[in-house]
Amino acid sequence: MPKILITGACGQIGSEMTLALRERYGKDNVLATDIREPEDENLRASGAFEYLNVLEEQHIARLVQKYKIDTIYHLVGILSAAGEKNPDNAWMVNVNSLKNVLDLAKNLGLRQVFWPSSIAAFGPGSPRENTPQATIMDPNTIYGITKWTGELLCNYYYNKYRLDVRSLRYPGLISYVTPPGGGTTDYAIDIFYQAIKTKQYICFLREDTMLPMMYMDDAIGGTVKLMEAPAHAIRTRLAYNFTAISFTPKQIADEIKKHIPGFVCTYAPDRRQTIADTWPRSVDDSVAQRDWGWKPQYTLSAMVEDMLKHLKKKLKT
Ligand code: SER
Repeated sequence: MPKILITGACGQIGSEMTLALRERYGKDNVLATDIREPEDENLRASGAFEYLNVLEEQHIARLVQKYKIDTIYHLVGILSAAGEKNPDNAWMVNVNSLKNVLDLAKNLGLRQVFWPSSIAAFGPGSPRENTPQATIMDPNTIYGITKWTGELLCNYYYNKYRLDVRSLRYPGLISYVTPPGGGTTDYAIDIFYQAIKTKQYICFLREDTMLPMMYMDDAIGGTVKLMEAPAHAIRTRLAYNFTAISFTPKQIADEIKKHIPGFVCTYAPDRRQTIADTWPRSVDDSVAQRDWGWKPQYTLSAMVEDMLKHLKKKLKT
């Protein structure tokens, strides 16, 4: 069994990843860490939690030794729109913390590291339809620059030190447990809350802005599959293209309308539109399918149905 430390365990991905990994490997084998206190009762009740500032390498090292950790899922990150407000902080948190994790994984001989990259690693020069695994990478947001830099660092640590670090270019992730903060794809979550609460939503992207997206169940299932794949199957140590469904704000609004008649979505694009306009509309993930058997489960309609079911329960309507 791996002995896992998760950073950013209170975040959008971390809160669900922690529970899923505890379910799979046992609660004593998964340590949750964050700079924030967990609000979610399940996260707190299901296993150990420690405060951790990922900018302090020695602090991570102490926890690794205390809990005999051999695997790190480094999920801490500042997202795209938040990054533009404070680029220095985005660089520090996203790049310096990754360097800390890679260094200590190398120095302490850890077995594996997972780190999320993003579709934001692509840029205006990358083909926008069916974006290939290997293509022009010229991100022009600080978030995208940190993700592409991080991919290059991971690749370097694999080639130079044989550190088993694996990564995925996550698309916009949709989930009902913990809301994201400061992303460009956040509209695809906010729209559900507003549809249920007020039957109205003002979307900050244009109605025809197509972006690659994925339901959190698929993201977690795919990440675990990548991490459990035999090392010889992993043929890139940059991040793998990874996608499920591409849709526009209008398409998801129409799908929600099928369940909530009378729901009205209007559009008031803001500065996040200029970020979305440099990202792929769809991604070619055939290399991940070929190398380690990636296959998503959720279609747009299945995801919308499941989101509404869970969110209605959560919001007690
Ligand atoms: N969901 C992220 C964002 O919007 C993209 O990786 O910033």
